Amino acid sequence: MTANPTKPIIGHDVSAAVDCLNSGQLIGLPTETVYGLGADATNQKAIERVFKAKGRPADHPLIVHLFSVYQLPEWANDIPDSAYQLAKAFWPGPMTLILNRGDNVLDAVTGGQNTVGLRIPSHPKAQSLLKQFGKGVVAPSANRFGRISPTQPQHVVAELGDAVSYILDGGNCAIGLESTIINLSGKQPEVLRLGHITVEQIETVLDCPVNQPAQSPDKALIKVPGSLESHYSPVTPALLRSTDWLHVRLNASPAGLSEVGLIAHSLTILQSTAVAHVGQSIMASDNPPYYAKDVYKNLRQLDENPKVKEIWVEAVPKQKDWAAVADRLSRACH
Ligand code: TXA
Ligand code: MG
Repeated sequence: MTANPTKPIIGHDVSAAVDCLNSGQLIGLPTETVYGLGADATNQKAIERVFKAKGRPADHPLIVHLFSVYQLPEWANDIPDSAYQLAKAFWPGPMTLILNRGDNVLDAVTGGQNTVGLRIPSHPKAQSLLKQFGKGVVAPSANRFGRISPTQPQHVVAELGDAVSYILDGGNCAIGLESTIINLSGKQPEVLRLGHITVEQIETVLDCPVNQPAQSPDKALIKVPGSLESHYSPVTPALLRSTDWLHVRLNASPAGLSEVGLIAHSLTILQSTAVAHVGQSIMASDNPPYYAKDVYKNLRQLDENPKVKEIWVEAVPKQKDWAAVADRLSRACH
């Protein structure tokens, strides 16, 4: 075992990461969505370390990561057919299902609720780690509570430092937004967190309407910190503003612009000569999946620039394919 207790190691050695899990230590787990802070889901002490490292309230539940749908009955009871239909369509992949918890699932995992969140990630490094480890791995996003989620190994170091023993290097996360969460424990399926897999795709597979976040009547009963109004946030104050607002402000006067960090996707903004006065500007994609892939990296880059005292983010279109990105931006800029 090569993990050094005082400095996290970034490496490609799946066995070293498995050794860490077996000895109750925390790892950086690459997934296709974001990096997770991984721990043995059957080890109470290791799970306590996850909450401590993140600074996360103990009643906020964790997602258990598995490698195969055959493991579901170990972790959940009364699994509905809809779970298998969605699993067939979207696993391995960026989807988490909330099911009735199995008899042996620790309270520390579920936050004492009678449900459990389960996900089978598709990232090949996550798959081989989960297979080799054999048990479930709890993995919240590897950021401090409320902060920007990590999509590169170095982000995990920046967020959590030596609380993590080993970071399994899986490169840049391909999707860049956390998984879509679907609650199947109630009468009707409901989406608790938007993500790469859309409400429309879920409705097509289930062939029935699905409740959406704002419409969930019992939302207050289910703890989803990602649904807090402020989350995924930079430390630097961030404003989400319309294209028109940005045009007016950028062209008004160059005073103060050198302290602004700008993320824009419209060419009209990026081609405006006033952008030259901005402290740092980032040109984001105008294609939702590409925008999503870099959104946390872009926010983090501006947040880490000492010149930038305020971040301006151009609002994205109000179309369905932008819904998950719009959701994260509104919370990051709350
Ligand atoms: O893409 C992802 O889901 C990433 C990667 C690492 O897999 N993980 C992630 O975990 O985003 P976390 O802990 O940052 O967000 C998981 C969300 C939380 O908002 C949590 O409250 C919710 O899932 N959750 C977990 N178990 C739940 C349950 N039993 N009922 C309701 N919400 C649950
Ligand atoms: Mg998170």
